[in-house]
Amino acid sequence: MSWNPSSWRDLPILQVPEYPDQAQVKDTEYRLAQKPPLVFAGEVQNLRSQLGKVANGEAFLLQGGDCAESFAEFSANNIRDSFKVFLQMAVVLTFGASMPIVKIGRMAGQFAKPRSSGTETVGGVELPSYRGDMVNGIEFDKESRIPDPTRLLQVYEQSASTLNLLRAFSRGGMADLHEVHKWTTDYITDTKQVERFEALASRIDDCLAFMDACGLNSSSTAAMAETDFFTSHEALLLNYEEAMTRQDTITEEKGWFTTSAHMVWIGDRTRQLDGAHVEYMSGINNPIGLKCGPSMDTDDLLRLIDKLNPDNIPGRLTLIARMGADIVTEKLPPLVKAVKEAGANVVWCSDPMHGNTVKASTGYKTRRVDDVMREVSGFFEVHDSFGTYPGGVHFEMTGQNVTECVGGLVEVTEARLGDRYHTHCDPRLNAAQSLELSFLIADLMKKRRDNQKKLAKAG
Ligand code: TRP
Ligand code: MN
Repeated sequence: MSWNPSSWRDLPILQVPEYPDQAQVKDTEYRLAQKPPLVFAGEVQNLRSQLGKVANGEAFLLQGGDCAESFAEFSANNIRDSFKVFLQMAVVLTFGASMPIVKIGRMAGQFAKPRSSGTETVGGVELPSYRGDMVNGIEFDKESRIPDPTRLLQVYEQSASTLNLLRAFSRGGMADLHEVHKWTTDYITDTKQVERFEALASRIDDCLAFMDACGLNSSSTAAMAETDFFTSHEALLLNYEEAMTRQDTITEEKGWFTTSAHMVWIGDRTRQLDGAHVEYMSGINNPIGLKCGPSMDTDDLLRLIDKLNPDNIPGRLTLIARMGADIVTEKLPPLVKAVKEAGANVVWCSDPMHGNTVKASTGYKTRRVDDVMREVSGFFEVHDSFGTYPGGVHFEMTGQNVTECVGGLVEVTEARLGDRYHTHCDPRLNAAQSLELSFLIADLMKKRRDNQKKLAKAG
């Protein structure tokens, strides 16, 4: 059987919305297929080669953004603030790790959510679950919860505008290292994290002044003035991906790309070896991710790797472990060991969010910053023990001043969760919490480097 962009349609599939009007679905797919691509194959190749460096231990991956983007929270200021936090985290990590950071947003396409139950009951009323703005409305009424295929077109339009702004920000001057003092969002200005950030920014100023004196500045050196920022989302709705799947007419590379984002990933609930999602993802040339939860079995993982990256290309496949802080050091080792022994080239990335969702006493779904950090530390520990490379982190975060995760230096308590709880799905780290974590991870990276230097000297 040969792959084509619609070969997934013959296979068992999970998490498909029940659209009442199939003709309208067909019409929407047709209209999407006429739209220009959102990303270009050359950019996708660039990301693949950057991730190849991560696979080889020469760069580090920072992936993050909203759990779910929404139509309601769509604004320039929102995108700007998320991007600023991202830049802050990236520069902290670049400095701490002395390594290039590959930057991928969960942005410009992250609109669909897998759900564990098809329906949701509130106050005795049962309605279809909210599946993200890409599918239906979050309001708890019958009308809103009916899946509407025209939402796919709205996702395309919003993704196009978001990506346009992100490209402008990353190339148009905002990401210039000389602007480092302007990346702090107003509402976190007098926090401990910002104090630490300003100290680092001053050191960067010194470096820049020195380099300028040597003749290297933003006009002579593009790398100082710009950054590559890539987009990603969970490829849940395969009819959307299929409509965006194109052959490239400019680069020499044969085959198919999804042009909905640079990178797409397979969720932990849709990673069945003989299922539709794995089939679709196996045939596109983009870098792809595979979420690995605690139920991932070693043999299954090896078979999935075989199917998703048969040519063993570094940078093609990122394994995103989402285990939970309490079990990461128990569940991850067998997987890392098996992948290492199979000689598979992958990027190992830690998602310390999805295994650590708890219910607060006040009823809110939340995550503790401490647990998030504990999972990242456990992830580093496991890789240390096998001599493998902890290649990156995957966060749910926002530039907005939300109170969704508890803990952190500017402590959000359970009692305060209700103050600014705005997420359309899972609880996100706010700017201060994200910045704090990036410092902790930079410290882990630094420690790892020092250890390796010591080993190299001794050995
Ligand atoms: N171009 C380099 C990079 O993207 C350096 C750089 C420029 C940078 N602006 C940045 C790094 C902002 C982090 C954040 O890595
Ligand atoms: Mn989520």
